[in-house]
Amino acid sequence: MHPLSMMTEAEAEAAKQILRDAGHVDDSSRFHGCCIHEPSKDEVAAWSPGDEADRRLELVVRNGADVYEATVSVSRKEVDRWEHQPGVVPRVGLLELGAVMETCRADPDFRAALARRGLDVEGAGSENGSAPTIQIDPWPTGDYGIGFEEGRRVQRCIAFLRPEPTDNGYARPIDGIVVHIDVDTLEVLHVEDFGEWPIPTERGNYDVASVEADIGPMRTDLRPVEITQPDGVSFTLDDNELAWQKWKMRIVMDDTEGLVLHRISYTETGPDGQAVERPIIDRASLAEMIVPYGDTRASQTFKHALDAGEFGLGMLANSLTLGCDCLGEITYLDATQMLDDGTVYTLTNAVCIHEEDFGIGWKHTDSATETVEVRRSRRLVVSSIHTVGNYEYGLFWYFHLDGSIRFEIKLTGILTTRGHADGDDLTFARQVAPQVSAPIHQHLFCVRLDMAIDGNRNSVVEVNTEALPPGPDNPLGTAFAARETVLASEHQGMRTTNSASSRYWRIQSDEVTNRLGNPTAYRLLASSTATMFAHPDSPHGQRGGFANHNLWVTPTVGTERYAAGAYPTQRNQGQGLPAYTAGDRATTDTDVTVWHTFGLTHDVRVEDYPIMPTEYTGFLLVPDGFFDRNPALDVPPSPEHCH
Ligand code: CO
Repeated sequence: MHPLSMMTEAEAEAAKQILRDAGHVDDSSRFHGCCIHEPSKDEVAAWSPGDEADRRLELVVRNGADVYEATVSVSRKEVDRWEHQPGVVPRVGLLELGAVMETCRADPDFRAALARRGLDVEGAGSENGSAPTIQIDPWPTGDYGIGFEEGRRVQRCIAFLRPEPTDNGYARPIDGIVVHIDVDTLEVLHVEDFGEWPIPTERGNYDVASVEADIGPMRTDLRPVEITQPDGVSFTLDDNELAWQKWKMRIVMDDTEGLVLHRISYTETGPDGQAVERPIIDRASLAEMIVPYGDTRASQTFKHALDAGEFGLGMLANSLTLGCDCLGEITYLDATQMLDDGTVYTLTNAVCIHEEDFGIGWKHTDSATETVEVRRSRRLVVSSIHTVGNYEYGLFWYFHLDGSIRFEIKLTGILTTRGHADGDDLTFARQVAPQVSAPIHQHLFCVRLDMAIDGNRNSVVEVNTEALPPGPDNPLGTAFAARETVLASEHQGMRTTNSASSRYWRIQSDEVTNRLGNPTAYRLLASSTATMFAHPDSPHGQRGGFANHNLWVTPTVGTERYAAGAYPTQRNQGQGLPAYTAGDRATTDTDVTVWHTFGLTHDVRVEDYPIMPTEYTGFLLVPDGFFDRNPALDVPPSPEHCH
């Protein structure tokens, strides 16, 4: 196996046993993280096919109130590291969340609050008994200095009426009730009941039978689109190493970050006919995300989930279905994870790999000769989809024949809803259906790009296009020029997007130049994207500080991996990027990591209900003097259709 191969079930089981044999864990231990240990770049680079890698796993273990980090070599059967982590709150386990929901449903005070609303949940089951009538959604409680939460691991629960198991779980918010529950002791710490709203009457279902019953028949005029590749796909997958055209990378489904790409490179043929593999990005990951709500209603105002660190995106990955999630000739990768009780399982079809036609790659009609040269563009897609409560997040990496890379997040799923009575204030929400409104919020994602443009000596430059003042050098007042500024330190590297100056950031090599003598480089082209609207000193601004800037630049440190810190649950003010960058380290001619925060401000629409049409957000990385000319010149014309 390669040092960056995905974790296997046997390895995860072995790691537990090695820790048990060493006396570190027993039946009462709980597991809040398990993923591969990523060795140093030198060690990874030194590996060659046939080598036995020293395979290690990283685990987060909780024994009672004590949290430990472990590094376990499953090759050597040794515990390399067993370190107590005082004062941290590990992410909640999926099994723990189940217990929290049951606790909430059974609580007498919660039931009394339901009874005051005329909701009788004795038995708490639907007619066929397969699912509870009351859906409980536990949310991370955040950190608002609430006394009774002090020193505890807490989830905050909100409730929805769901008469039938197949009903939309968010169509009937039971607003006004918020229940605080201790995850360890399952004590109900507090039941807030701050008002009553009418229970919506529409069921808001989106399955075929319900839509046909409630809205009307399915359309009948959609003819099939079939994607066929009669000669097979153009990529190869060896273990978790994917090679397509001149691209190469390794794919991992990390428990926390979800889809992670390692060692992204592009191989060119040198003048002597030798293949030269050129590194571009050493590691690309979603380093955190935050979904802060702008609403001040008590059932909404605490919401600002940090879904990567507080839940684990990899733990929430979907098993994908051919022809539904991905279309065409699909290759899948499975992913192994560990639940909080230590159960090891493998999710099939966790990562989808396929090719897509992508329109015109390049074209010109020469009017003198009437000759036309046109090439198709094609892209390789590596994707996964993660369900976090009401929302779906698709992580899509696209690699193109012209050397560009796009990362796109596809957002769909269901809005978090609140009750709406006639005359309610709608400053912070919009009504989406009778008796249903949905609050304004943001989805802000921070991607961590450990850049490696032709090696590990890189710098980052900001480029702004500016209009020149009229004068002797600009007699017609038409002049504008691109101005470059080196972002030489971490504090200089804290930047926002600016569409008015067509701002972009360039990551360039400090040792390799192209044939014109300029540094080889890639451009980071951000989309128009806001930073967090919550005040920087607010609980949301403090816990999600990474979202106060669109760009951060740091010297690469392997352990600085999470934009809101390694333990963002509850107590993490100022952790992650604000802490990493506090020393204002130099960021030129070094191994740099670029962190880009991007996303959407979701001022909801009626059409987002009852299920959201997919929205897209992301960014583009395009070569900027990385190649000596258009690298897609050697793409052949399409064989039949164009001639
Ligand atoms: Co949204």
